[in-house]
Amino acid sequence: MSDFLGHCRDAIGAANVVSASAEIAPHVADWRGRKNGKALAVLKPASTSEVAQIVRLCARFEVPLVPQGGNTGLALGGIPDERGNAIVLSLTRMNRIRGVDPFNNTMVVEAGCILETVRAAAASGGRLFPLSIGSRGSCTIGGNLATNAGGTAVLQYGSMRNLCLGIEAVTADGEIWDGLRALRKDNTGYDLRDLLIGSEGTLAVITAAVLKLVPIPASKRTVLMALRSVEDAVHLLELCQRRCGAMLTGFELMSSYALDLVARHFPAMRSPFNRKHPYCALLELSDPESDQHASALLESLASAATELGLLLDAAVASSEQQSGALWALREHIPLAQAAEGGNIKHDIALPISHIPGFVQATNQTLEETYPGCRIVCYGHLGDGNLHYNVMPAEPINPAIEETISRLVHDGVARFNGSFSAEHGIGAMKVEELCAYRPAVELSMMRKIKQALDPQNILNPGKILTDPRP
Ligand code: MLT
Ligand code: ZN
Repeated sequence: MSDFLGHCRDAIGAANVVSASAEIAPHVADWRGRKNGKALAVLKPASTSEVAQIVRLCARFEVPLVPQGGNTGLALGGIPDERGNAIVLSLTRMNRIRGVDPFNNTMVVEAGCILETVRAAAASGGRLFPLSIGSRGSCTIGGNLATNAGGTAVLQYGSMRNLCLGIEAVTADGEIWDGLRALRKDNTGYDLRDLLIGSEGTLAVITAAVLKLVPIPASKRTVLMALRSVEDAVHLLELCQRRCGAMLTGFELMSSYALDLVARHFPAMRSPFNRKHPYCALLELSDPESDQHASALLESLASAATELGLLLDAAVASSEQQSGALWALREHIPLAQAAEGGNIKHDIALPISHIPGFVQATNQTLEETYPGCRIVCYGHLGDGNLHYNVMPAEPINPAIEETISRLVHDGVARFNGSFSAEHGIGAMKVEELCAYRPAVELSMMRKIKQALDPQNILNPGKILTDPRP
C-alpha cells in the first residue's frame, strides 16, 4: 500500500495525501454520529486530471474509493466502511466557478463548490440557482448531484437532476468524460448525465457540471399558515397551486411537535402564534412582477383559504429578516431532532392525495404498537415528500429501528410511495432497496454497475450490496 500512496503523492503532491488519523477522522465520520468508518488516506486532488490519475491508480492497485464533498449526507453514502482498505476522495479543492452565462441561463462549476457560493455567484450575475437545502453553507455541488438533492424549492424548480444540463466525470478506469453541454435539447443516445446523477459515486466521479439558472424574482413573500390537519394542508396546497401557479415556490409542512422541538433546543426561535396549532404550512411566493402584485396575491389567497375554513391563523413576513426567521423555524427541525437524540428518520415520497391517509394510518399503528412514541412529521408537502421520523419511548437499538422502519416503509409501499425521496440509498438503505424494488429493476442496476465499474472500486457497498466479503 505504501507503493500506492507513494504514487498518489507523486500525482497530487504529498500535502494533499492525508494519512494522519486525526486529519482523517472528520472524513470517515457520519455528521449525525451514527457511524465511523476507516480509510487508508484522504486524497485531495485539485483538478479533473488529478482525479483521473488517482482513479487510475485505484484501478491499478484495486483500492476502493469513496468520493466526498461536504460530508453532509443523510444516508451514509459519503463515508467508507470499517474495513479501512478504501481512500476518501475529497473533491473540496475542486472549487472553481468556471463561468456564468446569463443569456444561456447557465453556469459551469466544479464539484467541490459549496452550494451557497454557487448561489451567491449566480446572484452576482443577476440569476438564481434555485436548489435550497439546510446544509447549503457546507454541502457541495458534487454531492448534490451524486444524491440528486431536493430541498425546499423542488415544487417549482425540480431536484438537482432538473437543474443540471451537463456534467464532466471520471470513469472507473480513469478516463475523463467531458459532457459539459449547456443544451436544453440533446437527444443523442443514452442519457449518461441522468444516469450518473443520483448514482452516489458508484458509477463515476462527477468533477464539474453545467447548472441551470433562472431570473431572480422581483418579489419574494413568505407566510406561515396554521392548520387543523394534514388533510387541510393538502387542500390548501391545491388552492395555492390553482391560484398562484408557478409563483408558488415553497410549501413546507410542520407538525406542532416538530416546532416544539425547535423551541426546546433553539429558544430564540419561536412560532409567531400565541397558541399551538396541530400543523403549520410555510409558503413562499416568488413573483416576477412586483411587491404590490405579490402582496395582492397573498391577500386574496389568505381570504380564499379562510372562506374555505382552512386557515386557523397566519403570519406574513413583512421583511427579509422576518422571512428568514420563519424559514429558520423550518430548517432547524432536523437540528433540533439531532439535539433531542434518539429518532428514526424516514424520507418518504407519496402521491400527495395519499398523504393524509398514510399519516393517519401510520400514526395509529405506531401509537398502538409503540405506546408513548413521538412522531416528528415535517417536510416538503408540495413535492409529496415527508420526513416522517419516529422517537420511540424506549431506547433505540438496531432491532427496534428495523421494525419501526419496516412498519413505516410497508405503509409507504401500500400507498404506492418511495422509501427514499431525496436522501438517497447510501449504505443505509441498501436492504430497503432489495426489499421494495422488483427483481428486474435490481438486476438492471447490477448490470449497469458491472458494466461501468467491473472492479467495483467506486464507492462499493453503496446503493447495491458489495459482492466481496
Ligand atoms: C430537511 O428537509 O430538513 C432535510 O431533508 C434534512 C433532514 O430531514 O434531516
Ligand atoms: Zn428534506
